[in-house]
Amino acid sequence: DVEDRIAALLEGMSLEEKIGQLNLVQCTGPDVVEDLADDIRAGRIGSILNVVDPEAIRALQHIAVHESRHGIPLLIGRDVIHGFHTIAPLPLGQAASWNPDLVRDCARIAAQEASAFGINWTFAPMIDIARDPRWGRIAESLGEDPFLTGELGAAMVTGFQMSETGEADTMIACAKHFAGYGASEAGRDYNTTNIPLNELRNVYLPPFLAAREAGVGTFMTSFSDIDGIPATANDFLLKTVLREEWNFDGAVVSDWDAIHQLCVHGLCENDTEATYLSATAGVDIDMVSAAYPRHLPELVTAGRLSERRIDELAGNVLRAKIHGGLMDRDVTAFPAQPSRMAALAAVRKAAEQSLVLLRNEHAVLPLGTDRIERLAVIGPLADEPAEQLGTWVFDGDASRSVTPLSALQSMLTGVAEIDYVRALETSRSMDRSGFEAARNAAASADVAILFLGEEAILSGEAHCRADITLPGAQADLVREVRKAGTPVIGVILAGRPLALAEMIDQFDALIYAWHPGSMGGPAIADMLFGRCVPCGKLPVSFPTLSGQVPIYYSHKQTGRPATPETVIHIDDIPAGAEQTSLGMTAFHLDAGYQPLFPFGFGLSYTSFAYHDLAIDRQEIPLGGRVVVEASITNTGECAGTEIVQLYVRDRFGSLTRPVRELKGFERVELAPGETRRVSFELHTDDLAFFGRDGQFAAEPGDFDIWVAASSVGGLHGSITLLP
Ligand code: IFM
Repeated sequence: DVEDRIAALLEGMSLEEKIGQLNLVQCTGPDVVEDLADDIRAGRIGSILNVVDPEAIRALQHIAVHESRHGIPLLIGRDVIHGFHTIAPLPLGQAASWNPDLVRDCARIAAQEASAFGINWTFAPMIDIARDPRWGRIAESLGEDPFLTGELGAAMVTGFQMSETGEADTMIACAKHFAGYGASEAGRDYNTTNIPLNELRNVYLPPFLAAREAGVGTFMTSFSDIDGIPATANDFLLKTVLREEWNFDGAVVSDWDAIHQLCVHGLCENDTEATYLSATAGVDIDMVSAAYPRHLPELVTAGRLSERRIDELAGNVLRAKIHGGLMDRDVTAFPAQPSRMAALAAVRKAAEQSLVLLRNEHAVLPLGTDRIERLAVIGPLADEPAEQLGTWVFDGDASRSVTPLSALQSMLTGVAEIDYVRALETSRSMDRSGFEAARNAAASADVAILFLGEEAILSGEAHCRADITLPGAQADLVREVRKAGTPVIGVILAGRPLALAEMIDQFDALIYAWHPGSMGGPAIADMLFGRCVPCGKLPVSFPTLSGQVPIYYSHKQTGRPATPETVIHIDDIPAGAEQTSLGMTAFHLDAGYQPLFPFGFGLSYTSFAYHDLAIDRQEIPLGGRVVVEASITNTGECAGTEIVQLYVRDRFGSLTRPVRELKGFERVELAPGETRRVSFELHTDDLAFFGRDGQFAAEPGDFDIWVAASSVGGLHGSITLLP
């Protein structure tokens, strides 16, 4: 039995060895084995991050298993976020697929590739709710919605870990960052958060509970301060919620140096106190700050922490190692590399499903190879093998990347001429000297395709932007190309939603590609030429202007909700208008109140009609269920996949409720003319939330229900939850 095993191990371990299990060190240098050998042999290190040389890992594990007193294997951690060598789309891009199976498969491939190098612990999934695209880490998130993030985050956990027994080709997953990191004020990384308790409970925590329920082995604390107590010392989060309410029995790791940073936050004066606060709150593993090995012994000697507490922390780490299979397999033997072809095929499929078609005027897309003789390919991101991989790709192999330019060249050899003009050296460049060549190329082509956006460095950790429009002179480049009179197709590669209102009319069609990973090029080329049909839907709302953020679909109604009738634009304010004459509702004078593209939105090359909503009962008792059905017909001319979404609104609550909440979704593949009935079952638990009394319960009353193609509109019905 696992608990007996842990108890027996702890029984024989010295205090120093137990504290060793709590010590995560970083070592990347060439002398890694020599540097760490003595400490591992003495049991002073329990985990290492950022070693990727398999021979070094093998040697380190050999020392841990064969030369230390208790033979406890090391956790070997690495940020394997959306791939190891073969890179899938950014997590935010994967989320646009709304496809848990696909997300699971991408994580599986990452685990297979990384574990072949001896890595057994990944710092993913990142399941922070992200509603502010200024925040660079939105790239690594699964978007703005708790339900979608929970479903996809759980799928990632499954993909990384596969089973509870931890096979050799899996990795232990880590749900991060617990909790609230995505609410960093002004979208500035590491910033303070202000999250009311009901929002923490109802919005930020549910994805973590989903990861917990999927069996995630570890959690990572957030860097951020939440209600005055940084997450790394937050008893409420780590003790009350995680351990007591959710019964999590795996390991909690701090973020990088975050225990020491409690002093920088101003929560305590020195590392001894920081150690005390983290250890009592429930951080098991100290990531690189060395505060635990330095100060836990003195805290125990002084009687401030009991050895029992150290046993609890070390026991959590041992449990994570046992459940991850580390204690029951030969950790010096690594599984074989998976097939590169299979990995590339999987990330190509993921890239296809991550692309979101945002605009397609006059059905300019798909292009027909029979109609195109000359193509102008323009822009700084058409041929950038490394940039298309995105952030968090320390081990990404850019030589595996196929760029859009090279994919188009292979596809169109002997069919059409391609005129490639980079025009701008980088996305940030202001040098317009290449504009004329770009316009000329467009003028002599049948269509101009512009590859714009942001390089990988403009999003990710600590890479936030205050102005989220297209950087540099890219907007001017589009306007210049537009002058040629040729149809203009935009493909945007970026780690965040950009504010495109000012630009959007310049494009006849626009594909949002995120950072699409190794096989982004072929996926984009296939979509441009109709070899794959767009089905991605936005996992996050797209603002019109930077100043509109945060803007998200599940906002509250407010006491003065804006309507089209009450909104006035700044340019239309009549002379002499009085203070109280301008609508008096919740909108911006220069941006209205709606996003440019709502959550859940995405076009296809075909069209879908929603009809015949049926709800099997109008009244449900507490604890009951209701079945919601609707028919979806493919009314266009090609086969396509529609992501059908179920939303509810709790009209009145003990606390004000969001205007809509996603409660289900289903992917439906339809041939032209085909109709399918989609069915969702809603349990009254699905209507529950943490209310005014702090309890999780569904409150009796009326609920709206929509089956919809996005968070706007859809087939509408209602139900009543009986007292
Ligand atoms: O996993 C990351 C975390 O998300 C941010 N800080 C560093 C950690 C380890 O690299």
